[in-house]
Amino acid sequence: MSDLRLPKPGTIEISPSILSADFANLASEIAEVESAGVSMIHLDVMDGHFVPNITIGPVVVAKLRKYSQVVFDTHLMISEPEKYAEQFVEAGSNHISFHIEAAREPAKLIEKLHDLGVTAGITLNPDTPVEAIAEVAPLCDMVLVMTVYPGFGGQTFIDSAARKCSEIRQLVGPDVRIEVDGGVDPDTAALVISYGADTLVAGNAIFSKSDRAGAIAAIRAAWA
Ligand code: DX5
Ligand code: ZN
Repeated sequence: MSDLRLPKPGTIEISPSILSADFANLASEIAEVESAGVSMIHLDVMDGHFVPNITIGPVVVAKLRKYSQVVFDTHLMISEPEKYAEQFVEAGSNHISFHIEAAREPAKLIEKLHDLGVTAGITLNPDTPVEAIAEVAPLCDMVLVMTVYPGFGGQTFIDSAARKCSEIRQLVGPDVRIEVDGGVDPDTAALVISYGADTLVAGNAIFSKSDRAGAIAAIRAAWA
């Protein structure tokens, strides 16, 4: 368990995705982006079933927890998220997003996450319409908008998916964060902010560069 909380809405945050980091040196990779002043780290959990790739589970999250002082923004790309969410909370995740396409009773899982003491997020794939999350989005602390098809880092940003942020902002108002995930770089960052996003996941744009602090500064320049 960890007491860190997702920053309250009203600021723009970068959530570096470790999917493009060196998995053999995750502790130092995380330390490097943390020293650049990020408030959260995006952890991509894939099960080889909901998406065609496999990454990390709660065991790795628990080990990483000892090396990080920032919010673990955990993105579950798994089938049956209700079965595993609690294990990620125990491992030290502070925010958990799960997919509307994967959950049987999303409102119930959001309530469970809140009862467990963490914030909750609903995620929608590029082809999923906003109507699919209309009922549950206002119950969440953050809505996660996929701007690539989930499964891999370094894909091309899908603008039509990002545009859903405007509609979602109307739906949830100013008190829920909107996070965008996939193909975010210094160019697309300004665009997604103009659509209403305030939380930017960036994997390839940060970890493919040897100067991670410089890469983060380049994204921040989109709004600062
Ligand atoms: C994709 C993951 C993303 C991914 C984004 O399925 O959910 O978090 O790491 O990577 P980039 O920023 O490289 O598009
Ligand atoms: Zn992600």
